[in-house]
Amino acid sequence: MMTILGIESSCDETSAAVVEEGIVLSNVVQGQIDVHAEYGGVVPELASRAHINNIYPVVSEALWRANRQAADLHAIAVTSGPGLIGGLLVGLTFGKGLALAVQKPLLGIHHMEGHLLSPFLRRPDEAASDCAFPFVALLVSGGHTWLLHAQAFGSYTLLGQTRDDAAGEAFDKGARLLGLNYPGGPAIAALAEGGDPQAIRFPRAWLDRQRFDFSFSGLKTALRTHLLHHPVDKDTQTARDIAASYQEALVEVLVEKSLAACRAVGSSRLLVAGGVGANQRLRQLLRQRAHPQLRIYAPPLAFCTDNGAMIALAGEERLRRGQLSDPSLTVRPRWPMAELATPELAANSHRQ
Ligand code: KG4
Ligand code: ZN
Repeated sequence: MMTILGIESSCDETSAAVVEEGIVLSNVVQGQIDVHAEYGGVVPELASRAHINNIYPVVSEALWRANRQAADLHAIAVTSGPGLIGGLLVGLTFGKGLALAVQKPLLGIHHMEGHLLSPFLRRPDEAASDCAFPFVALLVSGGHTWLLHAQAFGSYTLLGQTRDDAAGEAFDKGARLLGLNYPGGPAIAALAEGGDPQAIRFPRAWLDRQRFDFSFSGLKTALRTHLLHHPVDKDTQTARDIAASYQEALVEVLVEKSLAACRAVGSSRLLVAGGVGANQRLRQLLRQRAHPQLRIYAPPLAFCTDNGAMIALAGEERLRRGQLSDPSLTVRPRWPMAELATPELAANSHRQ
């Protein structure tokens, strides 16, 4: 039985979790909505300072809730990239210090590998997921939109990614245009609930049908243009229709490309994760349009958005394979997918 502490601080959530064999004993998430709300988005410098204030209480609480001591841990897994450099530095420096103090191995984890494994997490009273490799994964967050073929742990082929805005970014920017608060994804989803998704035909960028790349910047521009010509008051049916139509355009492309990718590689499993994976319309449309044979896996909402548990789980898998990080490990604010898939990842991850 391996007990892993996972630490996540790559964006605007300070999180720590204790995970044993995929079972989440604790998962503490301290968000920063109040810090960034007045700016309408994440301010990196303010995020770093909030992480500094939160990291110690969050890690202590995760250990306390799991009824574990730092000495009980088998390893400490920390998001070492990609993400905002200041936040990454806070998490990694803290993790390194703790690892040194309690003489435990340190694992630098790629944030997106955490998201990728998040559907395998479970609470103590839950049965293990029947999800298994290989599968196609749609990873949709504030910074990434990745469609990949995961053959096995550590063996991933990128099928497509966004050429401009990430799906979460498109939600966030659309929300700003609509005068909604940050974070925009949940705000648009809530407003869309009473709206007609067919009210306005926003453009869908299918790009090359043979490939699985995405583009969302045209959609954002279409919304801006629409609002210029048809100014709208908040809390009106028109606003709800626009939100629903915008969400529909975004989600439909994600759904169709994911299903096409499954057909192309002959996958009978599709996994959806990352903050935008929490979107209920995305999940609903996927289930509606998927072939009945396709199994769809998505984590509970708490494990979709950023959390330490997914980092701990990725750490557990790396530890099992002896892929420990070098003590000289440093953060990688940019960390391309191609360098995640290599088995020597952990040993080399400090090299830029
Ligand atoms: O994975 P995540 O928590 O952080 C990053 O790694 O970026 O994803 C955050 C993104 C934000 O853009 C947020 O607006 C979006 O996920 N998001 C949603 C929903 N919940 C969060 N987008 C659409 N619908 C949601 N329910
Ligand atoms: Zn994330």
